[in-house]
Amino acid sequence: MESPANLRVRNTLTETLYEPFICRVLSVQDLTPAEKVFHLVREDGQTFGHQPGQFMQVSIFGIGEAPISVSSSPTRGSYLELAVRKAGTLTAAMHELRSGDAIGLRGPFGTAFDVPAMEGQDLVLISGGCGLAPMRALIQRVEDRREDFGEVTILYGAKSPDDVLYKEDLAMWRYSDALRCHVTVDHVQGGTCWDGHLGLITELIPPLEVDPARTVAVVVGPPVMYEFVVNALRKKGLSDERIVLSLERHMKCGVGKCGHCTMGHLYCCVDGPVFRLDQLQNLQDVI
Ligand SMILES: Cc1cc2nc3c(=O)[nH]c(=O)nc-3n(C[C@H](O)[C@H](O)[C@H](O)COP(=O)(O)OP(=O)(O)OC[C@H]3O[C@@H](n4cnc5c(N)ncnc54)[C@H](O)[C@@H]3O)c2cc1C
Ligand code: FES
Repeated sequence: MESPANLRVRNTLTETLYEPFICRVLSVQDLTPAEKVFHLVREDGQTFGHQPGQFMQVSIFGIGEAPISVSSSPTRGSYLELAVRKAGTLTAAMHELRSGDAIGLRGPFGTAFDVPAMEGQDLVLISGGCGLAPMRALIQRVEDRREDFGEVTILYGAKSPDDVLYKEDLAMWRYSDALRCHVTVDHVQGGTCWDGHLGLITELIPPLEVDPARTVAVVVGPPVMYEFVVNALRKKGLSDERIVLSLERHMKCGVGKCGHCTMGHLYCCVDGPVFRLDQLQNLQDVI
């Protein structure tokens, strides 16, 4: 028979996995017409314990849950930032939240970027659209221990200037001596002021000077981006072990139980969302 102590341990684990804890919204800011960023703190005063690359399951009571990547680094303090695009029911309800409101969170879940493996390496950090949200957590982490890394290059692409996320951060990174940062948009409407690159993000890769033996590339973006970016990185000589991807799949439980996020023999929620490209070999249509 199981001892009460064992049962207690099991119940505590179950609660951590399945029972949301309560957070307060500290502030809400517009990032673009479609995206808002939420600053959250735990009501019990604890830290979130996340690492860049991980996601939270966000609960809006009476509506449901959705997985959202953490967009701030734990090195920035005990709060958490989530950048959320209004896509449907849950995310529309999130966009109605005001400071002081309560929401539930489960997590952090999933694999994180392997920061220790990146130490001493040059980094090429490539994101598109909402992919800048998890990438920003990694960039902040790298900025806060800048001496641990070699050259750091940030490439970001959005559809238009209006769709560019985290404009203030990007401006800061573009003018920083510690980083290189290039931003591109697919198109600019007449009358819009734009001083960045015009064209697809893949166009930013060939001009880069990359030492394939000491570079790690990280890619986060919409599904359409991966194949082209990966091909461009391979042409630069990067092996699949040096290309890291963060992938999105439809999720329900977030903890490897329901099977909604399967990718061949892998579950995106527990084996990912962060993968090295060589881990995805033999999985067709994954990227
Ligand atoms: C690991 C992970 C991290 C994510 N991080 C972020 C983030 O940082 N910011 C953000 O805005 N969104 C993020 N998403 C996507 C977000 O989870 C979905 O937009 C959200 O679940 C939609 O919920 P909803 O109830 O608002 O929309 P629904 O009403 O459920 O659906 C609206 C539309 O969105 C589509 N959709 C739902 N879930 C996904 C998904 N996982 N991938 C693609 N399309 C989907 C539906 O098919 C439908 O067309 C992430 C998803 C995953 C799996
Ligand atoms: S979301 Fe349930 S197994 Fe991944």
